[in-house]
Order: sequence, then structure tokens, then C-alpha cells
Amino acid sequence: MSATAGRDVLRPPANGFKAWLTACLMAYVPLGFRVLRTIRPILRFGNTIVVTRYDDVREVFLNDAAFRVPYKDKLDIIMGGHPFFLSMDETPEYRRDTAAMRLVVRPADITERLAGEVERRAEHIVANAKGHLEIVDSLVRRVTFEVLGAYFGIPDPPGEDLRVWATRLFEFQFADPGSDPALRREVDTIAPALRAHINGLIEKRRASGSFSDDVLGRCLAMHAQGVPGFSDDQIRSALMGFIVGGPPQPPMVVPQALEQLLRRPEALAGAQRAARADSNELLACYIFEAMRFDPLAPALPRTATRDSTIAAGTRRAAAVPRGATVYVAFSSAMMDQRRLPDPHLFNPRRLPHEYIHFGYGLHTCFGIHMNQALLPLMLKPLLKRPGLRRAPGRSGYLSKRGAFADRLHVEYE
Ligand code: HEM
Repeated sequence: MSATAGRDVLRPPANGFKAWLTACLMAYVPLGFRVLRTIRPILRFGNTIVVTRYDDVREVFLNDAAFRVPYKDKLDIIMGGHPFFLSMDETPEYRRDTAAMRLVVRPADITERLAGEVERRAEHIVANAKGHLEIVDSLVRRVTFEVLGAYFGIPDPPGEDLRVWATRLFEFQFADPGSDPALRREVDTIAPALRAHINGLIEKRRASGSFSDDVLGRCLAMHAQGVPGFSDDQIRSALMGFIVGGPPQPPMVVPQALEQLLRRPEALAGAQRAARADSNELLACYIFEAMRFDPLAPALPRTATRDSTIAAGTRRAAAVPRGATVYVAFSSAMMDQRRLPDPHLFNPRRLPHEYIHFGYGLHTCFGIHMNQALLPLMLKPLLKRPGLRRAPGRSGYLSKRGAFADRLHVEYE
């Protein structure tokens, strides 16, 4: 396969009328949801249903027996047919595999090794950029992959770039609704290569006989002790799931949050005060509030496993036939005035339940606590700098490529 090292992480931008139309439609999604929340909160067209109100979004996420995650087919391609808990129903296997991974991805790691490392690396990048920095790739993606790659124990494959592999597989799994054949061709090369890379790491570590205290090292120690959930296939699939499902996302949402702060000078000033006062908790309030105005995606998909009714007993109750695709619009839920006071106001003092950034219910993000602690720290050193502003021209405004944040240049003293 052609070496990915040194290549642009994202695929070349799509051109043509279809790409233009998609970008235009995406820009109107928040307005569309706003209208739907009022006049048709549960929209059905054919076998597709869109759920837009906060209460109904939470109801669907919580009812995982009736609304299953639809990730299995593509995950099977990525994992070579080996199961990963993201695609599972609430079964003993799901419980076993998530419980196993909680033994090796430990809450204490966040404060004891990840937070300091994220802040230190971000500070290093900001200090060395001499007052002009690109946020998506040069700051957030770099910090995320360096810190989490080392934590999981997965370095770049020889001559290749893990950021490209993980981002391509993430796009295939979560942001490829039309199943682009060109992307599939890349995945057919990258997925087996990533599996072989991790198999190789497992063999090498075992042969070395030494213990490294990272997630892979801990998995191998559990395997040696015979703890259930740690066969080589399970270890590989879990590590691949983490690498593909995790690090590609901070470079999407963190620059999006900064763009929202740059649009609101008062909010930016508040975030800067929190960063300078070393108040990580308050800084997090600013970052997650900013993310609410441009979250990860408009909605998450589910497949109805049985006939059911959403919002039963209300005037908006909607029948859902078995087999329907349900889009659970968590971005819309976070703008629902029925549950969030003044949702269009930037308010860093909101309550935790007002945010659904990391899903909800059975498949709530496995990395949620990591994200809550680490995402704000990626911007903290930058926010401490005086004179933070957009770079001149268009590069000072966040650009996107499909579902991904692409570039955002800033300047500071
Ligand atoms: C900005 C960062 C992140 C965001 C916005 C995010 C978002 C999400 C969301 C929305 C889901 C739910 C998917 C669904 O219900 O359909 C999810 C699940 C998941 N996330 Fe994250 N995530 C992030 C980072 C991470 C990281 C760093 C990890 C690595 C540990 C991770 C691992 C997972 C896993 C394994 C699941 C599946 C959980 C399950 O099936 O029980 N995520 N994430």
C-alpha cells in the first residue's frame, strides 16, 4: 500500500453540484430542526424518522431494545468479523467486553497521566508556533494522537500515519452515508493493515517479556492472568475500536468550539479568564457550551427492532415500524427550549443534563470522562495567550471538509 506518512489527513474535498448542495443543506440543518421541533417534532418520511425534541431524543437513546445501533456491517469490515461492543445489543457479551476494558482504561489515568500530558504538549506547540497557529491539525489532532496513541500503546505503523488510517476508518464507519466506493477501496487496504499492525504489536510485546503500563500492556497482563474478555482477538478489536472511534473526534469538535468562541467576544474573554485562572472546571463549562452551537454531528442513527411508539400518550406520539431508520437529533435536543432555558444564549452555567455531546444510554461514549477532562485542556495554553484573534483573511474562519473540521488559523502575542 502507498505510504500515508506526510499525506493530508482528510480526503481531498468533494467538488461539484452534489457537494455544494450538501454543504448548503447542512448549513440549514439547525434552522430545519428548529422548525421541526415546533411543527413536526417527530418527522416521518417513508421508512425514515427524525426525532428532534430533547425528551424524545433521550427516550430513543434509552430504549436500546427497540432502537438498535446500526454499526455492525461496517464494523465487521473494519474488525474482520470480530465483534466490538459498539455494535452490540445489551447482552452478556456487551457487559463482559465493556467491563473488561474498564479494568484497563482507568478513571485515575485521566488525572494521573493524561491531563498533564495534554496540557504540556499543547503548551509546547503554542509556544513554538511563534504567534501563528493552525488549530485542527497542528494543535488538536497532533496532541490527541500523540497522547492517546501512547496511552493505548499503538504507535504509527512503520512508514504510515495512524492519523490517516484512523480518520479514514472513522469516516467509513460514521460519516459515509452514501457508502462511497473510493473510500471503501481505501478501507479494504487500511483495515487489514491496522489489524496486522496491532497483531504485530501484541506478538512483539509478548516476545519481549517486558511490561509497559499502557492499555495494550495492561490487556496482555490480564490475558496472562486468564481474565475473561482478553483473548487476542478481543484485545485487538477493542484497541482498534478505541483508535478508530476516539482520536479522530477531538480535531472535529475542539476547533468547532473555538470557532464558536471567536464569534462571541464575551464568551471568548470568559474562557480566557478561566484558562488564566487555571480553573479547568470553568473552562470546561465554556468549551462544552461552545460545542453545543456546533456539535459532533446533527444526529445519530438507530434501527427499529420492533414496532413501537415514540412519545406515547402525547399529541406528538409517532408510530415506528420495525426496520425503520431513526435519526436521533441530539444537536436539536441541545437547542430545545422546552428543556434548556434560552437555548440560543451562550450560557457557561448550564447543568450537565443539558448536554448530550457524547451520546446517551447504553452506548454513551466510553471515553466520556476522558473527553470532559481533556478537550478543554487542548485549548487552554492558547486561551492563556494575550491578543488571541483570527488570522487575517478566510483562513481565520473554520473551514470544513464534509463532516470534518479542516483548517482554522489564529494569531496571538
Ligand atoms: C471529541 C471526542 C469524542 C466524541 C464527541 C465522542 C462521541 C461519541 C458518541 C456520540 C458516542 C455514541 C454513539 C452512538 O450512540 O451511536 C460514542 C461512543 C463511543 N466512544 Fe466516543 N467520542 C469521543 C471520544 C472518544 C474517545 C477518546 C474514545 C476512546 C476511548 C471513545 C470511545 C468510544 C466508544 C468505545 C464508544 C462506544 C461505546 C459503547 O458502545 O458502549 N470516544 N462516542
